[in-house]
Amino acid sequence: METTQCVTAAHKAVAAEEFIRLHHQENPDEGDPRPRLAAVREELAETGTYRHTDSELVHGARVAWRNSNRCIGRLYWNSLRVRDMRHLTGADEIAAACADHLRAATNGGRIRPTITVFAPDTPERPGPCIWNEQLIRYAGYPATQGRRIVGDPRNTGLTEAALRLGWPGGPGTAFDLLPLVVQGCDDKPRWFELPRDPEVVLEVPIEHPEGDGWQDWGLRWHAVPAISNMCLEIGGVCYPAAPFNGWYMGTEIGARNLADEDRYDLLPAVARRLGLDTASERSLWKDRALVELNRAVLHSFDRCGVAMADHHTEARRFMAHLEQERRKGREVSADWSWIVPPMSGATTPVFHRTYDETERSPAYVHHPQAHARARGEPLV
Ligand code: ARG
Repeated sequence: METTQCVTAAHKAVAAEEFIRLHHQENPDEGDPRPRLAAVREELAETGTYRHTDSELVHGARVAWRNSNRCIGRLYWNSLRVRDMRHLTGADEIAAACADHLRAATNGGRIRPTITVFAPDTPERPGPCIWNEQLIRYAGYPATQGRRIVGDPRNTGLTEAALRLGWPGGPGTAFDLLPLVVQGCDDKPRWFELPRDPEVVLEVPIEHPEGDGWQDWGLRWHAVPAISNMCLEIGGVCYPAAPFNGWYMGTEIGARNLADEDRYDLLPAVARRLGLDTASERSLWKDRALVELNRAVLHSFDRCGVAMADHHTEARRFMAHLEQERRKGREVSADWSWIVPPMSGATTPVFHRTYDETERSPAYVHHPQAHARARGEPLV
């Protein structure tokens, strides 16, 4: 059935009931679920949706993290800070609240896992939507005359969209901060520059613990990864704008963002700096460059006092998470290909086993439909 919402009405009632039961089961203080189930059913029948209580929203957002099969960092799921901004529907107030989110989450480098939840989808109108993949991202400017893309090739789409909306563009460095592109309810998308304040956008210059000249190279990365293009789905209700963050694991930057050939593609340059012989792959120059780049990332974050996990520690924490959940009598699902770190996989304990892949709700989900709609593209 065609729908402009993320969830159909029939699915919504079932999902609502399932979530209310889970919420009561895991929070015995909530008491007998039956009165709440009856109230939700009635509200659904009358309005086609229902409003989560504060406690349901907090628990729902936390369990959605617990259910994120791709996330290795789930041990602390129950300490996620939830900022309830469900009353916000307009682009400018949402953009301001995103800056507040970053301020609260950055916390001088002692990063706090945080989510801000904006207005949900309702049967009358879709909720607001943030076009950026993350609150902090670097622009990618199209390649010109045989020259490579300047910046992060992953973000060329958003960069073009922002330019089309009238963003004048940044200074043209490899690390230009993109503006937020926010679409309020019943509104066109609009762009908003983030405050250039390290309390909001904290960045770490990348240098190597021993290598010379890395400072002048000008590599940097942002301290807080805050995903902003996934719907938070709780009990059949969809919150399309619900940016959330944790802290980085070093390999996300050192083994992917700065290393992937379709991202910053820096391994050849790192190898040159290290004086490695790049003539043959069999010299393992890529592997050696990868290790040094990752040492540089961890060293730089430490030096700036910004929280960052290394993959050995985070893998051990994930094993602790599996054990903790087992003791609570809950199954943990996971996606092996995402959980195993992108370097030195078999040196971490998460490599040496398999995982159940069942998807559970509440969840953070990519809803391409919501994004096509946001961009005014025809729904397929
Ligand atoms: N891998 C993404 C990036 O490099 C961030 C994904 C979320 N990561 C996290 N540690 N919470 O920007």
